[in-house]
Amino acid sequence: MSAEKGVRERTSIDDLTSGVGRPPDRDQASRPAGAGAAVIACDRLVRIYSTAGIEVQALQGLDLVVGDGELTALVGASGSGKSTLLNILAGLDTPTAGQARVAGHDLLAMTARDRLAYRRSVVGFLWQQTSRNLFSHLTAAENVALPMRLARGRAQARGRARRGERALELLEMTGVGYCAGRMPAQMSGGEQQRVAIGIALANRPAVLLADEPTGELDSESADEVFAALRTANAELGVTVLVVTHDPQVSAQVRRTIAIRDGKISTEVLRRAAADGEADVAEEYSVLDRAGRLQIPRDFIESLGMRDRVRLALEPDHVGVWPDSPGQGVKNTNEEGE
Ligand SMILES: Nc1ncnc2c1ncn2[C@@H]1O[C@H](COP(=O)(O)OP(=O)(O)OP(=O)(O)O)[C@@H](O)[C@H]1O
Ligand SMILES: [Mg+2]
Repeated sequence: MSAEKGVRERTSIDDLTSGVGRPPDRDQASRPAGAGAAVIACDRLVRIYSTAGIEVQALQGLDLVVGDGELTALVGASGSGKSTLLNILAGLDTPTAGQARVAGHDLLAMTARDRLAYRRSVVGFLWQQTSRNLFSHLTAAENVALPMRLARGRAQARGRARRGERALELLEMTGVGYCAGRMPAQMSGGEQQRVAIGIALANRPAVLLADEPTGELDSESADEVFAALRTANAELGVTVLVVTHDPQVSAQVRRTIAIRDGKISTEVLRRAAADGEADVAEEYSVLDRAGRLQIPRDFIESLGMRDRVRLALEPDHVGVWPDSPGQGVKNTNEEGE
């Protein structure tokens, strides 16, 4: 992969959700085609777990914006905070500080009742463990129809035929229509995950969150599950954020976000090239509002950077040099003078 490194500038959460103070042109240009206004916007999100007097800062001021209709992969080492972020976005956990909005819902200001409605209709969630996504005593079609029944309440129970129809449509879309009448125990792990995508989409959520949905599958099943996520994104326009350890998956999405120590560190944007040519991938570092920037570890190691670096402002970029004694900052403006 040829990756050029650049810097992505951030604006405030209000700018992003109101459409005021748009990101600079460069950012606009690099936004994947088809992605609309921000549907997920996190601003300086913090989540601290305290257990037995020990504090773990799982999210350390995380900023993230995902546009409507994007299909994004979230990658990062174990313990970097991926599940913590997904659980917050899913309304399963609450942040310690910061802001988070999903499809216009303020995740820090929701009542218990709002939260329940939010989890039923605004977001769909897919767990890694297939058994956690499906009820073992219901068929695939009944599993998909169940959230529709719960969201609509008893008064509209007569919509049963319509719910059954929609359940079948969703199963067809994820490629497991033939499993409609089967119980979970009669399906493979990959088939169960594709049914689970149907369950997650049943109430037409704005966002589909998936935490390593292919983690327990062989590569062929994983491909089928990922293809179903792509189809859901393309056909229904649902915004998809998927945590994965699988490099194959991140090669198939337009945007891959890397999380490191509870913050977004870099992102890779992939654009389709002209016919017959390889996609172009550009890697960006994230610049926060305080001007902080994470330099990729391989850059730091290859130049032996430590503790402090020298910076120089150039007409169209900023130079960063390791702090080696006796070596001044090389100013390219003075070169040749
Ligand atoms: N309920 C909890 N109580 C205390 N600490 C927790 C809890 N959940 C997560 N943590 C800690 O928060 C940090 C982030 O965990 P998280 O589960 O978000 O990581 P992850 O990126 O999903 O990792 P993995 O790839 O292993 O799933 C870790 O240090 C973890 O030990
Ligand atoms: Mg996790």
